[in-house]
This record gives sequence, C-alpha cells and structure tokens, in this order.
Amino acid sequence: MLSYQHIYHAANFADVQKHALLAQVLKSLAVKPAPLCAFDTHAGRGLYALEDTEAQKNREFDNGITALWPQRAEAPPALRPYLDAVSAFNPDGTLSFYPGSAMLCRQMLRATDRLIATERHPGEFGHLQQAMAKGAAGAKPRIQTLLGDGLKTLVDNLPAAERRALAVIDPSYEMKTDYTDVPKAILRALKKMPQLCVFLWYPMLGAGGHRLMLTELVKSGVRDALVSEIRLDAPPQEHFRMTGSGILIINPPWPEAVMNDVTQAVTSRLPAKAFGDVFWLDNCRINPDTGLIVI
Ligand SMILES: C[S@@+](CC[C@H](N)C(=O)[O-])C[C@H]1O[C@@H](n2cnc3c(N)ncnc32)[C@H](O)[C@@H]1O
Repeated sequence: MLSYQHIYHAANFADVQKHALLAQVLKSLAVKPAPLCAFDTHAGRGLYALEDTEAQKNREFDNGITALWPQRAEAPPALRPYLDAVSAFNPDGTLSFYPGSAMLCRQMLRATDRLIATERHPGEFGHLQQAMAKGAAGAKPRIQTLLGDGLKTLVDNLPAAERRALAVIDPSYEMKTDYTDVPKAILRALKKMPQLCVFLWYPMLGAGGHRLMLTELVKSGVRDALVSEIRLDAPPQEHFRMTGSGILIINPPWPEAVMNDVTQAVTSRLPAKAFGDVFWLDNCRINPDTGLIVI
C-alpha cells in the first residue's frame, strides 16, 4: 500500500529545481502554435497548502521556495516563468499555496493543448481532481485526471494524436521496482514516439538507485539526454536522507545553457550549501568493473 504524500516535502529544494525547469520547458513548448499533449504520470495533489500540518511538520519549503520568494521581483530570467506561476496562486504576496507539476501544466498550457494527469493514491487523487477543477484563472488545456498507474497511461496513450508530447515522470520511489519500471516505460514510450520530451525527476540517495536507472538508459542508447543535479553539502535526516535531486530531460526543447542557468540560479539561492551540475547523459561512459555509468 502506498503511503507517500508529497505535501510533507512540498516546495523543498528538489521541487524548486524540478518546477523551475518544468516551467521553462512548458514556456518553450508553448512557443510553437501546434497543440501539445502533456502527460503527468505521478501528478500528486496539484496544489499544496503550505500552512497545512503535513507541510509544516518538517517545513522542507524553508530550504526551497521560502528562500526565493522575497527576491521574486528581482529574479533572473531563468526563474521568471516559475516564480510568475507561483505568484499567480498567491496574489496578495503571502506565500500560502504552492503549485505542483499538474498545476503548472494546467497554468502554462494553452486551450488547444491537452493534459492527462494520473495519480495512484486515492486520497491524493481526490485532491488532484478538486485542484484541477479550480486552479487559477485563465485559459486552460483540456484536462483528463485518471486514478491508476501513470506509466501505463503514458505508454498506452502514445503516440499522441497531437504529434507533440511531454511526459513529466515524478515517482515517489517508494518501491525499489520504480528504478527498473521507470527506464522500461521511458524506452517503450520513446519507441512509440521518438520525439517525446521526457522530463524525469529522481532522488539521489546513498543506495544509488538513480545510477542504475541512468545506466539502463545509457546502455539502451538513449540520446539527447540532459541532466541537472543539485547535491546538498549536509543532507537532512528526513525525506529518505536524500543527498541530492536530479532531473533528466530527453529531447530538451532548449540548449544546455537554459539547464545551466536554472540549476545555478536555484543552487545559489538555497540557504543550505549545495552544488549544481549539468551534463549530457550521452557523454557518460560505463565503468567496465561496476557496469555502472561514471558521472
Ligand atoms: C513525488 S510525488 C508527485 C509530485 C507531483 N509530481 C508534483 O510535482 O506536485 C509522487 C506521486 O506519485 C504517486 N504514485 C506512486 N506510484 C504511482 C504510479 N505508478 N502511478 C501514478 N501515481 C503514482 C504517489 O502517490 C505520489 O502522489
């Protein structure tokens, strides 16, 4: 039984990295007039109330959005789309609500676009449905919310009729099988739609499950795969003792410079000492002794 609830971690440093990059991806994909289909395979609840008891428990947002919020008026272009989206949910300037991946898609996609948001936890799904029905004002894409397995939804619905698609894959990695299921699903999805833009989040943990996942993708010959990693100097005790956070984008809609600018803009604003790194998975070699990629 799944017990993970993202509200406990909402708006932490990993969310800031993830959502600042996602906002740049959505902004860029919306430049071409042709419609787009976005899949959010692990949608969570869409909108997070930071004053809720769960969010307040560890206040992970203090090493996250709280640090960026007061500087939002002077934020660099790298953070602008993200902070504008967060501001839309907090019009009086008090930071109370935080939009997750599904809400960012809802906010930034156009009326001609489509969003398919899947969530497996029934309680989280209830929240998601409510959030998607309300959201912030403005044009919105056609939205389908589904209770179930997001990886299956993705693979089953490709290729998208729009011929342009984005897959946001943000698992909780509660089950070890996530580390094998995710690369399998990505490879199946790319086979059905090679131009798919894949946006994958992963935690960096001592056990190194993320490295197995990246290795699998390298061995399978995935190309055009850009990575952003933010490592904490002193990892906290909570959230599975996450030492860092990574985003992999396959078929990125912009050059490496955008990934660099966002990664550095986030890293340099966090109160906790952190290091940001950007690299192409294409350039990673496999260590013949360990069988794992060398990063
Ligand atoms: C890290 S959270 C998602 C956060 C969300 N993407 C955001 O940015 O706000 C992961 C979510 O995936 C859900 N989940 C876990 N396995 C799933 C699966 N196979 N399909 C769909 N949702 C799943 C969990 O219940 C949890 O709500």
